[in-house]
Amino acid sequence: QTTLNPTLNNDVEIHQNDLPKARFWEAMDITQWEGFWFGSGLLKPAITFKSSFQAQGDDVFLASTMKTGTTWLKSLSLCIMKNRDNFKHEHDMLTVENPHFHIPTIESTLYSTKPLTINIYDASTPRLLHTHLPYTVLPDSIKNSSCKIVYMARNPKDTLISMWHFFNSFLRQDQESFPLEKAVDCFCSGVHQYGPFLDHVLEYWTESQKRPCKVLFVKYEDMKSDPKGEVSRIAEFLGRPFGDEREVDEVLWRCSLERLKNLEVNKSGSILLNVPNTSYFRKGEVGDWKNYLTSDMADRIDQTIGLKLEAFGLFL
Ligand code: A3P
Repeated sequence: QTTLNPTLNNDVEIHQNDLPKARFWEAMDITQWEGFWFGSGLLKPAITFKSSFQAQGDDVFLASTMKTGTTWLKSLSLCIMKNRDNFKHEHDMLTVENPHFHIPTIESTLYSTKPLTINIYDASTPRLLHTHLPYTVLPDSIKNSSCKIVYMARNPKDTLISMWHFFNSFLRQDQESFPLEKAVDCFCSGVHQYGPFLDHVLEYWTESQKRPCKVLFVKYEDMKSDPKGEVSRIAEFLGRPFGDEREVDEVLWRCSLERLKNLEVNKSGSILLNVPNTSYFRKGEVGDWKNYLTSDMADRIDQTIGLKLEAFGLFL
């Protein structure tokens, strides 16, 4: 059986030693591969995944870079694909475990603190999986089979602020947060976990334009401003359209930030090593960056990332 245990693959070890390295926010070592930066521990699983994963035609892949609303997308997709029939029996998978347990992020599964419900090579179909990996490094079997991809994107400034809070939440009380000024520099130069952000977003955007039946591109901001319209679009794309508006409302309510944040399963514990379940839920506001970034910082992000996204009609 194919395995994601990268220690079994010596070629990966040799390959990794030759790759560029950097330190990300004084928090972790990152390595550059195929134009993107990966936490060093995630690189081997990513390489092994790319070379060995066999997609099935009915797989559903959720994709996103960090802090763009992955948890929300996982919850909604879980409800659309697997959870909906449970509601009438008063059962809701979201109350049993954190969304990241039900839909594992493939390259992070090695760090799971619990045996996941899904053995990704032997799960009940359709398999529902997530990755933070850029489109470029997805296995050919995902790109070439009929499986579908839903990508969640978010405006760069809110993504950065969300990322900054996320990493700050792991600091001890006596540790100072990483200087925001430097975080902006790293973000603009693309040297951060799963960066460059711009390339990550544009790769999936371009693919969604070329193959709209294969890749659905969803924006966090659209989800906030038109949740019913957007969640219905996702459900239709996945071939599971809602029967009526009541069903849409129920799924949105079950996946709302307020509800998820206050579920017992999300108030403590962790699915991934060193990542408390609480850290996935914060404010969920569009434009929260205004409370943190100076106009100079905002300008720098606009100049290096924002304007380039705008040229594609994104995040105007
Ligand atoms: P903020 O830090 O801006 O509050 P990810 O899930 O990719 O890690 O992204 C985390 C961001 O999504 C956080 O944003 C978090 O608050 C927000 N989020 C988490 N669950 C959400 C939900 N159910 N609805 C809306 N936003 C949510």
